[in-house]
Amino acid sequence: MPSVYIETYGCQMNLADTELLFGHLGRHGYQRTADPAAADVILLNTCAIREHAEERVVGRLGDLVRFKTRRPAVQLGVAGCMAQHLREQLLARLPFVDFIVGPDAYRRLPEMLGNGGDPFTDIRLDRDETYADIVPQRDGGVRAWVTIMRGCDKFCTFCIVPYVRGRERSLPAAAILDQVRQLAADGYREVVYLGQTVNAYRDGTVGFAELLRRTAAIDGIERVRFTSPHPSDMTDDVVDAMANAPKLCPQVHLPVQSGSDRILERMERGYTVEQYLDLVQRLRRAIPDLALSTDIIVGFPGEEESDFEATVALMRRVGYDNAFMFKYSARSGTKAFKWPETVPDAEKARRLQAIIALQEEQAAAINRTLVGVTTEVLVEGPARRRAGWLVGKTPQFKTLVFPANGEQPGDLVRVRIAETTAHTLVGHREPEA
Ligand code: SAH
Ligand code: SF4
Ligand code: F3S
Repeated sequence: MPSVYIETYGCQMNLADTELLFGHLGRHGYQRTADPAAADVILLNTCAIREHAEERVVGRLGDLVRFKTRRPAVQLGVAGCMAQHLREQLLARLPFVDFIVGPDAYRRLPEMLGNGGDPFTDIRLDRDETYADIVPQRDGGVRAWVTIMRGCDKFCTFCIVPYVRGRERSLPAAAILDQVRQLAADGYREVVYLGQTVNAYRDGTVGFAELLRRTAAIDGIERVRFTSPHPSDMTDDVVDAMANAPKLCPQVHLPVQSGSDRILERMERGYTVEQYLDLVQRLRRAIPDLALSTDIIVGFPGEEESDFEATVALMRRVGYDNAFMFKYSARSGTKAFKWPETVPDAEKARRLQAIIALQEEQAAAINRTLVGVTTEVLVEGPARRRAGWLVGKTPQFKTLVFPANGEQPGDLVRVRIAETTAHTLVGHREPEA
């Protein structure tokens, strides 16, 4: 039986695609291996979001080529967003790569791999491909990541995703709900719905809010989350659903990108700071214990000190539980790529460091207010750094560790929070009432 080794870069959607690849290749006779030295097929499932992401992959391919030198029959390939982005350029730069396969071409992969080992490239984007019929091979655990829509139609001026993932398309709700019922039967306790603009989900009859309500009604699934919603697609219907179905977790990742209207407009994000803040207020009114996280870019072309200060002010105003912060990276093919960069790298780095420090401070302050609070934890397994302790997540998706006392992965337990840092809560089991 041929074996396949896959390394994954990028976002949760790529991790979910790797599970899909394992599932699909598995049904075509490929066995999964965790050892590249033993693999017949070595695949990197790649990301193109920032230049750094692509450089890492180029470096890693240079490492992995030694397995091919030793055993020339090994097929070494690049899948995912960077494959789609760089195509021929990638082959010219790395001639030892055997195949390049874009995010919509995975269905044909087994056939092409079996084709006598000839090199191939398949980067056709397919408006209809959802892989709805392919069962992913998951790693187990208590949480399952479920892709419910693919692609993006928003075309923010900085972003490569619409070019490498193609147009927006949703899986049929019936297929998603069947998958979730099966996940519950397999012992999963939590599902996280995935899509680049996950709340743009619509299958013709079922919209995103309705999909969430139907998911929350499935026995055995205790928690439902989703990532990433786009602020412009966050309807009142979704907010209501979250406020009224206890299984829909009080946690939203709401990427803002910038706190300056001038920059938001140049990014073509489709909302103003005021509209964003209004949405935050509606969410917080409806869901009082809500945790909010975000994504922020610094150093976008034209970002002045005053725009950056506006971003800092927005962060102070919202008080995010968590934030993913990035230096702007120009991506060929996007609209902003043609605009001259106005912020030198050292200045981008300074701005980034400043907001990282602010975020750490704010997260630590928010978490300190949780000391003494009792929360519910979905147990995942042993804590990494403390022997005899368990780790799990709170409804707000905060990591919590506590001393083990016979609890099993998948258990929901009440824990009283005793200490906190910016990233972790430490607690003890609440005695049963
Ligand atoms: N679909 C999500 C974002 C997915 S990409 C949304 O619209 O919110 C994840 C994050 O990467 C983005 O939110 C953005 O902050 C960052 N990002 C995307 N393109 C980037 C670029 N060219 N340079 C730096 N960061 C970028
Ligand atoms: Fe990129 Fe914007 Fe689409 Fe998000 S919504 S994936 S940032 S184009
Ligand atoms: Fe990267 Fe593609 Fe995800 S570009 S962030 S892996 S959709």
